[in-house]
Amino acid sequence: MASDLEALLVDIAGHAAAYRDGAGARSASPERTYAQMLERFDQPMPDAGLPTPAVIDELRARVDGGLANMTGPRFFGWVIGASAPAGLAADWLTSAWAQNTGNAHATPAAAACEEIAGRWIVDLLGLPSESSVGFVTGGTMANFTGLAAGRNEVLRRAGWDVESDGLIGAPPIHVVVGEEAHSTVFSALRYLGLGANRAIRVPVDDQGRIRADAFADVVSKLDGPILAAAQAGHINSGAFDPVGEIADLVHAKGGWLHVDGAIGLWALAVPELAHLTQGLAKADSWGGDGHKWLQTPQDIGYAIVRDKHAHRRAMGISASYLPGGDERHPADHVPELSRRARGFSTWAMLRSLGRQGVADMVRRHVGQAQRVAQRLAKAHDVTILNDVVLNQVAVRLGTDLAPDVADRLTAQTVAQIQRDGVCFVGGAAWRGVQIVRVSVIGAGTTDADIDASADAILDAWRRVRSDRGGV
Ligand SMILES: Cc1ncc(COP(=O)(O)O)c(C=O)c1O
Repeated sequence: MASDLEALLVDIAGHAAAYRDGAGARSASPERTYAQMLERFDQPMPDAGLPTPAVIDELRARVDGGLANMTGPRFFGWVIGASAPAGLAADWLTSAWAQNTGNAHATPAAAACEEIAGRWIVDLLGLPSESSVGFVTGGTMANFTGLAAGRNEVLRRAGWDVESDGLIGAPPIHVVVGEEAHSTVFSALRYLGLGANRAIRVPVDDQGRIRADAFADVVSKLDGPILAAAQAGHINSGAFDPVGEIADLVHAKGGWLHVDGAIGLWALAVPELAHLTQGLAKADSWGGDGHKWLQTPQDIGYAIVRDKHAHRRAMGISASYLPGGDERHPADHVPELSRRARGFSTWAMLRSLGRQGVADMVRRHVGQAQRVAQRLAKAHDVTILNDVVLNQVAVRLGTDLAPDVADRLTAQTVAQIQRDGVCFVGGAAWRGVQIVRVSVIGAGTTDADIDASADAILDAWRRVRSDRGGV
């Protein structure tokens, strides 16, 4: 006879599978607002408990209509993967196994799986084989960890031990980033006591790429420790900074270069994208994301650091109650001590896709991004603002209109597309104008989804333009 636990898990497996299998048929947008969901959940703290099956039923009933369809095939709102089945199933086991993954002796399987999955990532991406990998919550903490290792190392080279002595009195670090670095790079600089506004922001080109000539100019005037950040995959254009050139300039000055590859690091697995990724392996650290292109469930990212000693000096933790030894302890590579075993879903996705599968998926999404761009660009009043080199499409609506009118109508169209629910897209301000952002990233997205979504975007645009623009 099934135990109560088995009955519970079988029951939720049915509900979860129905939810996932129904993703394509459901609206691409949540049907209810945050305010409505808050009202749904807003009850006083209960005095008495409830049997577990009833709790789960109640949870399911309360969330109904308020879940974002992020696993669906027409979700293009942000760069968020669809958490494919292998990663999802491994993640369920991760929860069931409940390994607190800080220490290799405490959780040998989780620690070993993570170590090997990290080696696979480094191998797949062609990064320096000596690199160490920390399994963090996502790109934000990957940037934080890489920049922390860099801060440690450039100060160590200047004769300062920041881990012991802090930043007060330390030689000042020159932080150099692109003008359009992702906001999480600035968050990391804040967390690291380096200040978001103190960073030197190097001018970029029309795709948001750091201009190598401007970077060279800036760096040539700097004296003292340099910590630089470049990106592989711009948030709106998908463009890659000229990392190889930047790395040479930074290294000539004894500095450290971190690459924010939350979106684009996986392009390293695709030979045809070598023109984008050239020189990427010359950096000192890289941030990558599992829950974006690798399609693991939330929340998994990778902090990859060439110098494992610098990585460990920045993140290492020891205490008499934690078993030591020379093994790789997961907690020595991330900001947290206690955390879930992120290696299992990562390993499962890499095992399920293989080298070929990762490359095919990235290649397919790049082709689909180009497909949606071409379909949209056929309209006389729609312009694609970026070179579609990756999975990002930056769409400007109303290019024949006054800029302020086009801005207003573009923002209204994003809201209309979301209300229609055929697909989900986001909006942003880029290069001084309002755009529609289309991020092609879902594991299950087909060409038919792309075509239906392009048509839905144009249809919403036509209605907004004629109904509200009066133009
Ligand atoms: C370029 C870039 N860097 C960093 C991040 C932050 O990653 P995460 O949200 O996984 O922390 C993102 C997220 O969208 C991103 O697009």
